[in-house]
Amino acid sequence: MLFIPIHFLVAVCLLHTKTGVLAVPQHAMNQMHGSFSLPLQRRIQTGSGSTDVTGYTDNTGEYAWLVDVTIRDQTFSLELDTGSETTWVWSNQISEPPQGGSGKHTEYDYGAIAPSPVVSGSDFSLIYSGGSSGISGIVVQDTVSVAGVGVSMQFGAAQVVPGDWFYSDGLLALGWSSGNSITNKPPTFIELIQHGLDAPIFTTLFDLTNAGGTLGFGAVDPTYSSSLKKLAVDNSTSSLWLVDNLSFTVGVETYPQDTIFFDLGSPTIAIQNDTVNAYWKSIPNAVRINGTNWAMPCSAKLPDLHFTSPLNGQYQHVIPGSSFTGALAYNVPVLEVEFPMCYGGLVAQSCPSGCAVMGAPFFGTHYVVWNIAEPSVSFALREGVQLGVAA
Ligand SMILES: *[C@@H]1O[C@H](CO)[C@@H](O)[C@H](O)[C@H]1NC(C)=O
Ligand SMILES: *[C@@H]1O[C@H](CO)[C@@H](O)[C@H](O)[C@H]1NC(C)=O
Ligand SMILES: *[C@@H]1O[C@H](CO)[C@@H](O)[C@H](O)[C@H]1NC(C)=O
Ligand SMILES: *[C@@H]1O[C@H](CO)[C@@H](O)[C@H](O)[C@H]1NC(C)=O
Repeated sequence: MLFIPIHFLVAVCLLHTKTGVLAVPQHAMNQMHGSFSLPLQRRIQTGSGSTDVTGYTDNTGEYAWLVDVTIRDQTFSLELDTGSETTWVWSNQISEPPQGGSGKHTEYDYGAIAPSPVVSGSDFSLIYSGGSSGISGIVVQDTVSVAGVGVSMQFGAAQVVPGDWFYSDGLLALGWSSGNSITNKPPTFIELIQHGLDAPIFTTLFDLTNAGGTLGFGAVDPTYSSSLKKLAVDNSTSSLWLVDNLSFTVGVETYPQDTIFFDLGSPTIAIQNDTVNAYWKSIPNAVRINGTNWAMPCSAKLPDLHFTSPLNGQYQHVIPGSSFTGALAYNVPVLEVEFPMCYGGLVAQSCPSGCAVMGAPFFGTHYVVWNIAEPSVSFALREGVQLGVAA
């Protein structure tokens, strides 16, 4: 998910009940592991709750890749996100509990911890792109552990959460601290943990066809090491994983894409409108639903989408067309069409520049190495992924 900081825009009434000092020791990682990995669960938000996801059924809906994170013997199921910088968890001080799925969260009870973990004078406040309301609260410092490896870090303890947020207990943000919405921009989880790893990387391997995935730290899976292609990440203008100068190819036409965010939290690939129009116009009976989204017959065999980077010469990176078949679409405005229509996971970016996103169809079909010290993403097609047809 891409986020918009609202720290300076919205005056949020915060309950600084504790003016406590920062008492948790600033120790580094409490256990050193050069590399480790752990499983992920993919979950979709439904009207009344959430459910684990299998298949290509949901890539236009809200969903999350969830990772278990331990704080003080409590397990929080956090959304993994490279499209934001602020890690936060539910607190037991949520002012207006969300409807529907409320009461199902692990809550951080900062008031019950002595000495107080509350970072005095610090707060956080953000709203995710596409979201209608924001998330805000106080800031605490505590040890956050993933697969038994912990770092002491500052993170948000939410007091305000949108009413429709109930699929995770918060969010593990993997961007750079320069964009952290927490006062004074403390280091992010990956910035802290990198120093104890064999290599300053994390890796993601998701599978759209089962509800699982793997998050790795510190090592590259040897299965993929020889086939990885690297793209530099431009963190000079963004604190997220921004890649410059890609070009997409549809048929014989090439469409430049000035910048694109590699965002684990996004359900679709959102790129320049011309590229998206050309792609879907090549599919018989595909129809535009609105300014950004298309639907097509669920049975359509979708062509693969290719892209190049000047960094890799003429090399054609490929996103399998099968990964663009989304959920069954209802009320598509072509009543004469007699076959089921599905949403397409390739959509038009909704602003002229600067908001293109590489999302689930890419991450569900690629093994990705994210390098924090030499900012870059390297990736290879996941084993077993079937390519389709040429555009
Ligand atoms: C990417 O494009 C920018 C201009 O938008 C240019 O300055 C830069 O040299 C390009 N990088 C590569 C690797 O081609
Ligand atoms: C376009 O349609 C999709 C699918 O129904 C919907 O999720 C999206 O919010 C719509 N976008 C706009 C800009 O109306
Ligand atoms: C994309 O192009 C179509 C056709 O020209 C237009 O109707 C639509 O509004 C455009 N969408 C965006 C986001 O620019
Ligand atoms: C970009 O990444 C490098 C290496 O991790 C880091 O030293 C630098 O501070 C980052 N730049 C920004 C603006 O965050």
